[in-house]
Amino acid sequence: MAHIQIQQLRVSYGSLPVLNDINLEIPDRQIVAIIGPSGCGKTTLLKSMNRLLDLNEDVSVTGSILLDGVNIYDPAMDVTCLRKRVGFLPQRPYPLPMSIFENVAFGPRIHGLSVLSAGGGGKQAEKSLVEHYLRLAGLWDEVKDRLDEPAAKLSIGQQQRLALARVLSIEPEVILADEPTSALDPVSAKLVETQFKLLKENYTIILVTHILRQARRLADYIVFLYMGDLIEHKPAAVFFSAPDDEKTKAYISGEIS
Ligand SMILES: Nc1ncnc2c1ncn2[C@@H]1O[C@H](COP(=O)(O)OP(=O)(O)OP(=O)(O)O)[C@@H](O)[C@H]1O
Ligand SMILES: [Mg+2]
Repeated sequence: MAHIQIQQLRVSYGSLPVLNDINLEIPDRQIVAIIGPSGCGKTTLLKSMNRLLDLNEDVSVTGSILLDGVNIYDPAMDVTCLRKRVGFLPQRPYPLPMSIFENVAFGPRIHGLSVLSAGGGGKQAEKSLVEHYLRLAGLWDEVKDRLDEPAAKLSIGQQQRLALARVLSIEPEVILADEPTSALDPVSAKLVETQFKLLKENYTIILVTHILRQARRLADYIVFLYMGDLIEHKPAAVFFSAPDDEKTKAYISGEIS
């Protein structure tokens, strides 16, 4: 269980302000969709939550993001530990140049997960872990007979579920996903959506999407950004049926996109 509170968050790249005073509490174990027009700051907000923004040299971040009450921007924060608790699924899959099996086993080995170290680890423990995460990602049945093949041989839709298995394999509490289905065909996209719905029972999933229909299908909670401002955030049912703000109404109706 991880509780995220964003307080007075401001982000700029060089002299360009991108997020203005964002205050937001993320509900646990739900699918939260961050939506809004291109360039409004969705990816920036998502990446702020596990400090992936740090990779940009000219970025400036002020305010705080509390994870279970601890500010992740505190200089004392262990960023590796943070990124283990808050995993990130990018728009496109980048499988490691190794087998399907090795791709999933990699994370637990690096992080020395207790499951592996307990009882001396062992190949059998590792095999069952790999199966477990591939099942959670909805990929097991398609790959169980070809685990030793290079991951690059999988279709892009399968690779994206492999990427999900890799995120899950570090046992995060929160999954950040940036337009995770935008590179996929509709059938593969549906498979990823189905897994998200199953996973939300145990994880908090924060998803950026520019597809309103996907937000309607999947999200329990909506965060609507417009030009760096947080315009409205509320349970999805209320957001779509009774939005408060004129900009939200215009966005939902398709007047602005
Ligand atoms: N590394 C960067 N350096 C400078 N400006 C950036 C950088 N990354 C993003 N920006 C700018 O910050 C603003 C917000 O970008 P961001 O990627 O967060 O938007 P977005 O809502 O995810 O857009 P899209 O829907 O197109 O992915 C944009 O004006 C963008 O050009
Ligand atoms: Mg983006």
